[in-house]
Amino acid sequence: MILDGTLDASVQAAAAALQRGELLGLPTETVYGLAADSDNDAAVAQIFTAKGRPANHPLIVHVADSAAITRYAKEVPVFAQQLIDAFWPGPLTLILQRLPGAAKASTGGQDSVGLRCPSHPVAHAVLAACQQLNPPVWGVSAPSANKFGRVSPTTADHVATEFGDALLVLDGGACEVGIESTIVDCTRGVPVLLRPGAITRDDIERACGQRPLSKEELTADTPRASGTLLAHYAPNAKVRLMDAAKLQQALDGLGPEAGQLCVYHRSALRSTAPGVTLHAMPRQALAAAQELFGTLRDFDALGAQFIWIETPPDSADWEGVRDRLQRAAAAG
Ligand code: TXA
Ligand code: MG
Repeated sequence: MILDGTLDASVQAAAAALQRGELLGLPTETVYGLAADSDNDAAVAQIFTAKGRPANHPLIVHVADSAAITRYAKEVPVFAQQLIDAFWPGPLTLILQRLPGAAKASTGGQDSVGLRCPSHPVAHAVLAACQQLNPPVWGVSAPSANKFGRVSPTTADHVATEFGDALLVLDGGACEVGIESTIVDCTRGVPVLLRPGAITRDDIERACGQRPLSKEELTADTPRASGTLLAHYAPNAKVRLMDAAKLQQALDGLGPEAGQLCVYHRSALRSTAPGVTLHAMPRQALAAAQELFGTLRDFDALGAQFIWIETPPDSADWEGVRDRLQRAAAAG
């Protein structure tokens, strides 16, 4: 059932559902989440079942404000505090040392916890209402509200399509950011970028004075991060990523029985082959991120067998979009 998330009565109903241990489709500025009370292990277990997600992929705990950090994290390094001051509320998740006993099922018992304070007004209203309950709900665990490995949802309808009418979903409109939060691991003494997003490497460096390392630059074993599996974000169609010249060449080589093909391009490209739909990618990285997952879903809805995508620029602002496209292509 979809409720208007801007109504106070819907927010109160959603908070009460979380307190009872039920699941909720929750809008955030990045993507929609499938939410449950972080400290209710049985409720959190339902998230894993509903998504078909392996239990060793930890969930992000969402909090109403930075004061709630102390309920989940043991300590906040100076550079992490600088990132919080700069980017919360907003699309940034920090991995911190976990307070023993907190959010056990969410974290799969790891000694770290992922924390994020979302800026979406509906998400914020629900988290604030949760704190006012008796007993309070201090944290809300929410992975993206899609089946494991599939494209993340950016509208309430996407969530309802994925999980059916039995799930309570708050409608908060189309997500503004469109790709998942940037994840920075703060447990290793230096910032480590686990997942790129709208907050870029450059943004992080400006805020804390240190350029984040990549996972690949680490020597010790990194915590698991499912949004970071090579093959993820898979549409039904087969995705290929190519530069403009290769893409035009491939289009020129199409025969009459090429099948349904959607092309997501940046340069001026031509094709007269039947079954080909051209769709231009926004010029700006933030705008491209916002429509990315919805566009992949639209291509599936058009019955595309193939999706050919022009590789986005190599600059830091495109890193989040590039990452999602590379993994959609790797899914085969
Ligand atoms: O924007 C977002 O982050 C969205 C919205 C709903 O907030 N959530 C989201 O959740 O993308 P999910 O579960 O799809 O991705 C969470 C990522 C996973 O890659 C997970 O492994 C990683 O965060 N993660 C969570 N806790 C972690 C931890 N303690 N250590 C390492 N990675 C962690
Ligand atoms: Mg996800």
